[in-house]
Amino acid sequence: MKVTTIGTGYVGLVTGACLAEMGNHVVCLDVNPDKIRVLNEGGIPIHEPGLDAVVARNVAAGRLQFTTDVDVAVNHGTILFIAVGTPPGEDGSADLQYVLAAARSIGQRMTDYKVVVDKSTVPVGTAEKVDAAIREELTKRGVPANFAVVSNPEFLKEGAAVEDFMKPDRIIVGSDDEQATLMMRALYAPFTRSHDRLMVMDVKSAEFTKYAANAMLATRISFMNELALLAEKVGADIELVRRGIGSDPRIGYQFLYAGAGYGGSCFPKDVKALVRTGREYGQELQVLNAVEEANDRQKQVLVEKVVARFGEDLAGKRFALWGLAFKPNTDDMREAPALTIIEGLTERGAAIAAYDPVAMSEASRILSTNPGVSFCERAEHALAEADALIIVTEWKEFRTPDFDRFKTDLKQPVVFDGRNLYEPAMMKSMGIEHHPIGRSGKIAAR
Ligand code: NAD
Ligand code: UDX
Repeated sequence: MKVTTIGTGYVGLVTGACLAEMGNHVVCLDVNPDKIRVLNEGGIPIHEPGLDAVVARNVAAGRLQFTTDVDVAVNHGTILFIAVGTPPGEDGSADLQYVLAAARSIGQRMTDYKVVVDKSTVPVGTAEKVDAAIREELTKRGVPANFAVVSNPEFLKEGAAVEDFMKPDRIIVGSDDEQATLMMRALYAPFTRSHDRLMVMDVKSAEFTKYAANAMLATRISFMNELALLAEKVGADIELVRRGIGSDPRIGYQFLYAGAGYGGSCFPKDVKALVRTGREYGQELQVLNAVEEANDRQKQVLVEKVVARFGEDLAGKRFALWGLAFKPNTDDMREAPALTIIEGLTERGAAIAAYDPVAMSEASRILSTNPGVSFCERAEHALAEADALIIVTEWKEFRTPDFDRFKTDLKQPVVFDGRNLYEPAMMKSMGIEHHPIGRSGKIAAR
């Protein structure tokens, strides 16, 4: 099939590359010429495991192209994915300006039947707005309306995006148009071969499903983070509690890890947007308000622990900080807890020596105006002369470091373990002062 993605970011690029991998002919469009130049020169503008190989293979096979030319892109695809950003507006609602601009650009050019797919995360009712925007442009041109708008939210996780796209848990298609539904089924058939994972529903339910999923996951995390704070006070161990409750299949083990708070380009903005939608319809989503508040609080917890240990005035103190990206296996810094933590520490006078395996160039761009932060080429370099180590992101390479260097390189062996990477009992036996999240240090019986 002929497919176009409008927007070549995390979602558009992964969608385009993975659809090309299944034999489709894909054109990826972006308004950002730098991104398209990098792609056309054989590079990948983001860090996403496995993506470079899929892109290279399909470019070489002539099935995947990148362009800034809107005419070429709109003419090419029969199925046009809108995969542009939907950042939070000032009031927290999803800003639809990029989605609607993409819709208009389709209406201004299309000449034959198109299935326009809302891949971006968009509030209920957006498909109607996309439909209206395209229709308006077609009317101006005097061209008959021959298109369908479909909702197909994306559930991939950064850091595992290619795998998630290739082996989806489910594919949600919101469609009221029979021909469009058939085309979406055909497009996704190679991804659902073992059993049918494609669910067709009405457009509004599909749009809603995406927010409901992210809100549910964010709720689990905030809930566990609050329990972790209480566990510390009562002397329980949140990791043992996680295993204890996760064994109930109604609860499950995943997404129950207490930590430094959730970040990323999705949870924070999607929780806000759903709260906003509720308000628009006169329904306050009280649970979600609390989820957001608890997360804002949680992003401060490591700062609070450092202040409790070293005092409110951190002038003259230096901290090693491992992990800048909002989660491992990505260079995405959007809403990363590390940014909040660095701000909290440097505004109290501390110096930060930071390290991240892939996010340092993005982080140094964002933190360029903060003179309190320096970046180290290797994790262990950050430890030198630091008063303590703070771990914010659970990259694999941090799981089994040379613990002796905590004792030889840090001024004193103090570790703030924001992702509960290390067993408290083991840290104690090695003489390392360990500050995890919600852990009492009881022996974890497996
Ligand atoms: P992104 O910022 O990485 O990419 C969006 C791209 O769209 C940018 O490169 C931008 O230049 C381009 N763009 C904007 N307007 C355009 C236009 N009119 N024509 C062509 N290109 C245009 O964003 P993303 O992370 O890929 O997210 C895209 C959407 O997918 C959002 O709604 C997001 O909520 C949703 N989503 C993201 C993820 C994720 O993990 N990143 C997962 C699921 C869903
Ligand atoms: C999320 C959704 O998982 C994905 O389905 C959706 O399509 C986009 O949003 P992503 O933001 O890439 O994906 O990362 P995710 O793995 O969900 O993690 C989000 C944040 O939650 C990270 O900051 C992570 O550290 C945090 N998290 C996750 C926890 O604090 N505890 C957990 O148990 C899981």
